[in-house]
Amino acid sequence: DLSVTIAGVKFPTCFMNASGALCVTREELITLGRSRAGAIVTKSMTLEPRVGNPEPRYYGFTGGSINSMGLPNLGYRAYAEMIPELTRFGKPVIASIAGLCEDDFLTMARAINQARPDLIEVNLSCPNIPGKPQIAYDPVDSERLLKRVRPLITVPMGVKLPPYFDPAHHAVMAEVIRRCGVDYLNLINSVGNGLVVDPKHETPVIKPKGGFGGLGGSLIKPVALANVRAFWKLLEGRIPIIGTGGVVQGVDAFEHVLCGASAVQVGTALVEEGVAVFERLERELTAELAMRGKQSLEECRGKLKEL
Ligand code: DHB
Repeated sequence: DLSVTIAGVKFPTCFMNASGALCVTREELITLGRSRAGAIVTKSMTLEPRVGNPEPRYYGFTGGSINSMGLPNLGYRAYAEMIPELTRFGKPVIASIAGLCEDDFLTMARAINQARPDLIEVNLSCPNIPGKPQIAYDPVDSERLLKRVRPLITVPMGVKLPPYFDPAHHAVMAEVIRRCGVDYLNLINSVGNGLVVDPKHETPVIKPKGGFGGLGGSLIKPVALANVRAFWKLLEGRIPIIGTGGVVQGVDAFEHVLCGASAVQVGTALVEEGVAVFERLERELTAELAMRGKQSLEECRGKLKEL
C-alpha cells in the first residue's frame, strides 16, 4: 500500500505528475485521471491563456532535461471550469497557480478556491519568464505574497519552491514558510537557468532565452534531496513535503522519503515515458520496501541515517 495523507487529503499512491508534465490541456488532465497517478496536478495557470515561449522549448537528454516553456496554459478560468470533472477520478486535484504579478495570485486564489480543488499550490518558482525573477528568491516578496493569499484559500495551501544552494537561504525561507500558514511544501522546481549545448550544431538545444532553461531529471536528484532534507529538519517534520526532482526509478522515491518526503512527483520521466511510468514506479518502490522489510512509507519518512 503506497497511499499517503498530506494535509488531511488522502492520495491513493505517492506518485503523481510534477506540474508542467502532461497537464496543460483537458485531454492531458483526463489522461492523468485515468492513469495510476496518485493525483492530478495542473499546469501552473496564469490569469490569461498563454501560448508560451517559441519551440524548441523542451529537450530530453541522457540523465535529464532542460525546458523553457514560458507558462503555456489555458488561463485560470478554463481550469476553474474543469476542476469539478477532474475531482471525479477518485484522486486529489492540485491546482497550481503562478501569477505574473502579486495581484494575479490573489485573483486566481479566490476563483480557484471557489472551484474546490483538493489543494492549491502557490508556485513561487517559475524560472522561465524572460525578465522576471523568481519570487521565491526574494524572501520579503515571498512573505508578503503568502500572507495576502493565505486568507483567500480555504483548502490546504502548498508552496512550490525552487532549489536553494546555501543553508542560510534554507533557514530564511523555512522561517517565512513557518510564519505563513503553509500546509505543505513542494520541493523542488527545476534547477533554473542551465544551458545545454549541442556541439554538432554549435547551438543551444532550446530556443528561448538564448538556450537557458530549467533542468530536471536524474541530474538534479542530489539538489532535490538536499532541499527536502534541509526543510524537513528546519521545520522539524511538521510541514509535509512533496519531493520533486530526479524521480526516475522506485529507489529515487525511497531516497526522497528517507529525506522527509511524504509523496513524490515525476516530471522528466513522465514526459519521456508517458503515464505508464506510474505503474513501473509503484512496482519498483513496492519491491524496494519489501526487500528492506518495510511495511509502510510512513515508517521510512525522514529516517535517513547520518554517518
Ligand atoms: C514554467 C516552468 C516552471 O519551472 C514553472 O514553475 C512554471 C512554468 C514554464 O516554463 O512554463
